[in-house]
Amino acid sequence: MSADEQKLDTADPTNIVIFGATGDLTRRKLMPALLRMLSCGLVHEDSCIHGVVHNRSETEWLQMIRDGFNLFSPKLSVDDGVWNQFSSHLKMIDGDLGDERTYKNIAESLQLLGGKKNVMFYCAIPPDWYGTVAKGLYQAGLVNEEEGYRRLVIEKPFGSDLESASALDNELQAVFDEEQIYRIDHYLGKESVQNLLVYRFANSIMEPLWNRNYIDHIQITASETIGIEYRAKYYENAGALRDMIQSHLMQLMTLVAMEPPVEFTADAVRDEKMKVLRAIRRFEPEQIKLHTVSAQYASGCVDGEDIAAYVSEENVSPDSATETFAGVKFYIDNWRWQGVPFILWTGKRLKSRVSEVMIRFRKPPFNLFDNHASIPAANALAFRLQPEGGVVIRLNAKKPGLTTDNEELVMRAPYADDVEKVSDAYEILMHDVLVGDSTLFSRGDEVEESWSIVEPILKAWEGRFSIERYRAGTWDIPAMDELTKDCVGGWHKPTVYE
Ligand code: BG6
Repeated sequence: MSADEQKLDTADPTNIVIFGATGDLTRRKLMPALLRMLSCGLVHEDSCIHGVVHNRSETEWLQMIRDGFNLFSPKLSVDDGVWNQFSSHLKMIDGDLGDERTYKNIAESLQLLGGKKNVMFYCAIPPDWYGTVAKGLYQAGLVNEEEGYRRLVIEKPFGSDLESASALDNELQAVFDEEQIYRIDHYLGKESVQNLLVYRFANSIMEPLWNRNYIDHIQITASETIGIEYRAKYYENAGALRDMIQSHLMQLMTLVAMEPPVEFTADAVRDEKMKVLRAIRRFEPEQIKLHTVSAQYASGCVDGEDIAAYVSEENVSPDSATETFAGVKFYIDNWRWQGVPFILWTGKRLKSRVSEVMIRFRKPPFNLFDNHASIPAANALAFRLQPEGGVVIRLNAKKPGLTTDNEELVMRAPYADDVEKVSDAYEILMHDVLVGDSTLFSRGDEVEESWSIVEPILKAWEGRFSIERYRAGTWDIPAMDELTKDCVGGWHKPTVYE
C-alpha cells in the first residue's frame, strides 16, 4: 500500500463540531468539502457533523445548509438523494458561544454517540471568540485526549499584530497542546502549492540553480480582480499587508526559500520554514519607504464591469487610507539567498487574477549575439498556482531566418487542468486534521515570527492620512515599477493564459 493510500485509509470515525455553523465559511467551503469527503470515503461513514447554532431551529439550520449548496456549489448537484444521505450525518447543537452550558451540551451530545470519541473542533467564527471557545471546551472536559483525539482548527486571521497573536497563542496553549492546534492557511492546502514542493525536491535539475549564483530575484504574486466582497469591517482594519502578505505570501516564500527538510514530516518541514523566517532582514523605520509600496483602488473597470472606488464601498470610511495593494521587497540573510530580493505583492481590483511564484534568473554573462538587434531576455521559471496550475519556462530561441536574432519562447506545462480531479484546499486540510498531519498548517512560532517581520511596516503605515491610488482594472502603480527597477525584467505583471 502506498503512503497516500495509507493516509486515505486512516481517517477513523470522527465527530466534527463546527462553531459558526450558519456562517459564510461553513456554507461556502466546509459543508461542500465534507460532502465530497464523505462521498469518497475521506471522512468515515460513521462520522457525525455537529453544528453549533444559536437562535434557530434544526429545520431552519438544515434548510440554510441545503440552500448554501444550491447557491455556492451548484456543480455538486445536491438532489434529494444526495441531501438525505448527507443530512443523515448532520446534528444541531443549540447554544451561544459565550454561555458555558453550550459546552456542556456539546459534551452530552458527544457522550450519546457511544464509541466515537475523536473530535475535531472547527472554529469558523470571528477570531475574537477563539479564546472563549477554547476555554469553554476545556472547562467542559473536552480537551483531554484519553478517549480519542481532540483537535482544534483555527482560521486566519491569527491575531492582527505580534502582540495579539502571542496573546492568542498563550490563551490557546493554556488549554490545548500545540500538537492539537491546527492553524489553517488555505494557501497551503492548494494542490499547486504542494506541487511547488514536489517540483523543488523531486527534480534534480532545480537544486543547482536554486541560489544566489543563478537567481536575480523572485516575485511572489497574488493578483486579484475581486474587491473586498462585503468584508469592509474586517478589511478596513486589516489591509492587504495583513490580509495576504503576512499569511499566504510569506508562507509561500518559506516554501520557496527553505532548505530541503530531512524528511517530509510536520516538524522537519516547519523547522526549515522557521529558519527562513528568522533570516528575513528586519527593516529599520527609515528603510520602509524604500522597500514597500502601498496603494488603494480608485474607480475603474474590471472585466468590462464598472467598479466603484474602495472608499465608496459600504462600511468603508470616505477618507480611508487602508491599502488594497501592498508590495514588499524582502531579503533573506543566509548563504543561499544573500542579496536576492523576494518581492511579495498582492492587490484587489487589478487587471488579472493570477497567483504565482516567478523565479527570474540572471542575464547571460555575455551576449554572444550582441551585434544583432535582439538581446536575449533573462530566463524565468514561473510556478503558476491559479487560475490554472502549472509551470512556465521562458527560454530564448533563434528566430527562424538567416540571422541569429532571438525571440522568447514561452513553454507551458499545465498541471491538473482537470479541475474535477483537483481537491479543494479545505478537503485536503480537513483530511489532514482527521489523520493528524500538521505539515500544511502554520505552527505558533511561525505565525509570531511573520508578525514580527511585518510589524515595522504596519507601524510605519499606521495612522497615515493619505495613500496612492490606482485605477481599478489596471497596473497603474508607478511605485511598483520603481521598487523593481533594479530587478531584471522589472515588475512582472502576469497575464492569464488562454
Ligand atoms: C483570503 C483573503 O485569505 O484569501 C481574501 O482574506 C482573499 O481577501 C483570499 O481574496 C484569496 O484566496 P484565493 O484562494 O482566492 O486566492
